[in-house]
Amino acid sequence: MKKINIAVVGATGMVGRTFLKVLEERDFPYENLYVFASPRSAGQRVKCKDIEYTVEELKEDSFDRDIDIALFSAGGDISKKYAQIAASKGVVVVDNSSAWRMEKDVPLVVPEVNPQDIKWHKGIIANPNCSTIQAVVALKPLHDKYKIKRVVYSTYQAVSGSGVKGIMALEEGLKGSDIAKTYPHPIANNCLPHIDIFLENGYTKEEMKMINETQKILGDYDIKITATTVRVPVFDCHSESVNLEFEKNFEVHEVKNLLSNSKGIVLQDDVENNLYPLAINAKGTDLVYIGRVRRDFSLEKGLNLWIVADNIRKGAATNAVQIAEELIKDL
Ligand code: A2P
Repeated sequence: MKKINIAVVGATGMVGRTFLKVLEERDFPYENLYVFASPRSAGQRVKCKDIEYTVEELKEDSFDRDIDIALFSAGGDISKKYAQIAASKGVVVVDNSSAWRMEKDVPLVVPEVNPQDIKWHKGIIANPNCSTIQAVVALKPLHDKYKIKRVVYSTYQAVSGSGVKGIMALEEGLKGSDIAKTYPHPIANNCLPHIDIFLENGYTKEEMKMINETQKILGDYDIKITATTVRVPVFDCHSESVNLEFEKNFEVHEVKNLLSNSKGIVLQDDVENNLYPLAINAKGTDLVYIGRVRRDFSLEKGLNLWIVADNIRKGAATNAVQIAEELIKDL
């Protein structure tokens, strides 16, 4: 197999550091690794597979060398500018920002769901939104078998989704201050039905990301979807209540069986023993946990699920590295 050279853009950030951790844990087979961040971090050292790398300032000529794959997580503006530059130099960019996700010629990929879409990339592959990733891993086998007509998403999202400043806001808030001002209101002891900006239709951008990205990944624009996304005072891992309406009939035991035999999913559903997915248990793992599987008796063919995953790992870094793993199979 060809030796791969890989770059990480935003290597000092929360997701960037996790890229390095996941590359190491999965022993991703690279020959050279290049790490980039803002001028503020140039010269800093980061570690991967026991080797220290010097952080370089990201510049227009950063990709003028033999790089096969670049994992980007430095925000939308950086991706908008540099992903195309990298792609024009033959680098395949796996981009964690929302900059490219809805572009027609950019595949939006969750490897358990639509790995086939990787094949038609033109230099940029988008990593979906963290809340979307864990949801579609659950939805895919159910959609294949019962055809989903409608989805109602309600999320309970951790502050780590806002990066270091989200963690700071909750840490400070729990100590009684709110110096960070990351959110428009205190996050400690609070729930904020407000993630990303509000749009003209009254939804937030995060809610519309979940709606649009789910349709694109599942390749079905007829599914009706609504969402309410909420930031909660939890450091890590997103939890989601998901209500589904199917076209076909189902049995709950059949659904549980299907989910527990699907890729990337762990079924944790034993309410007699208080077993259901919890954020504190999902932390640091790469799987999607599903529980509280029950019939929605207010509908003819409705189902309720509770879905939990580590938003920085499966919701971001791990998913991107899994895409890179698929890419190198063809090199
Ligand atoms: P830096 O640490 O030098 O600011 P997070 O989402 O956790 O805040 O991380 C954002 C990542 O994006 C960091 O690695 C950050 O680097 C990087 N970044 C921010 N601005 C730039 C920029 N202008 N050029 C390259 N990387 C950037």
